[in-house]
Amino acid sequence: MRKDLVDLWNEKEYHQKYLILDDSNAKTISDICKPITDNSKVLDVGCGVSRTGMYLVKNRKNLKYFGQDISSTALKMAKKRIKGAKLVHHSCSKLLFNSNYFDFVISTYAIEHFSEPKKVLDEMIRVCKPGGKLIIVSPAWDAPVISPPVLNRTIKKRLKSFYVQSKRQAGLILLKKTDFHTIDPPKHTIKEYSEDTDTVYHVSIREVMEYLKKRGCKIEYVHQRRLPLVRYFFRYMHIVAKKPAER
Ligand SMILES: C[S@@+](CC[C@H](N)C(=O)[O-])C[C@H]1O[C@@H](n2cnc3c(N)ncnc32)[C@H](O)[C@@H]1O
Repeated sequence: MRKDLVDLWNEKEYHQKYLILDDSNAKTISDICKPITDNSKVLDVGCGVSRTGMYLVKNRKNLKYFGQDISSTALKMAKKRIKGAKLVHHSCSKLLFNSNYFDFVISTYAIEHFSEPKKVLDEMIRVCKPGGKLIIVSPAWDAPVISPPVLNRTIKKRLKSFYVQSKRQAGLILLKKTDFHTIDPPKHTIKEYSEDTDTVYHVSIREVMEYLKKRGCKIEYVHQRRLPLVRYFFRYMHIVAKKPAER
C-alpha cells in the first residue's frame, strides 16, 4: 500500500465532503441503501467517515452497522458520529470478519481506490451470508473515450488509455477476461488533490459484473438497466448482486 495515498486518506480535509448528509446527497444515499432492510447486519467496506452508516442507523430499525477502512482519521471521525458501530482499521484486501456473517456488504466510492480490487471483491463475497446482497457504487470508466483523471492529462496519455481500454473491453466482451487494471496515481498532498485523482483501480462495470457472475453471484440490479450500452458512458457504477444460497 502506497504510504502517500494512506497519508492523503488520513487528512481530515479529505473527508469533509463525506461528512455531509443533506438534501444534495440524501436521495442518492437512500437509493443506494434501498435494498437494506430493518434488523440486518451491514458491513461498509472502505466506510470512511460512515456517511452511509449515518443514514442507515437513522432510517432502519435495529440495524447493526460495521465498517472497515484503512484511514484511522476517518474512523475516529466516524466513531464520534455513530455510537455503538463496530469499526475496524485495516486494509480491505483482508476483511477482519467471519465468513457468511453479513446480510448486506456495501461499498460506496471506495473500490476505485483499492490496489487489490479482486481480493476485496473475494472478501466481500466471503463475509456475506448465502442469499445476502452486495451493493457496490463507484465511478467507472468503461467507454474508452473516458478515463480516470490521471490518464487524461496529456494527449499522449489519452491515446494510450484509449488503446489500453479498448483492448481490455474487447477481452472482457469476447473472452470474459478480467484483468483488474490498476494505475499509479501521482503523489498527492491534500492541497493538490482534486476528485478522483487518487484513483488506483481503473473501474470497469463490465469487469465487476463479470467477476461477480464468475463467483456465482446473481446481478439483481445495475443502473440504466434498460439501456445497457448507454450505461457505460455514465462514469458511474451501481450494482446489486446476490450471493447464491447454500444448497
Ligand atoms: C472517497 S472515500 C469514500 C468513503 C465512504 N465509503 C463514503 O461513501 O462516504 C474512500 C475511502 O476508501 C478508503 N480506502 C482506500 N483504500 C483502502 C483500502 N485498501 N482498504 C480500506 N480502505 C481503503 C479511504 O481511506 C477512504 O476513507
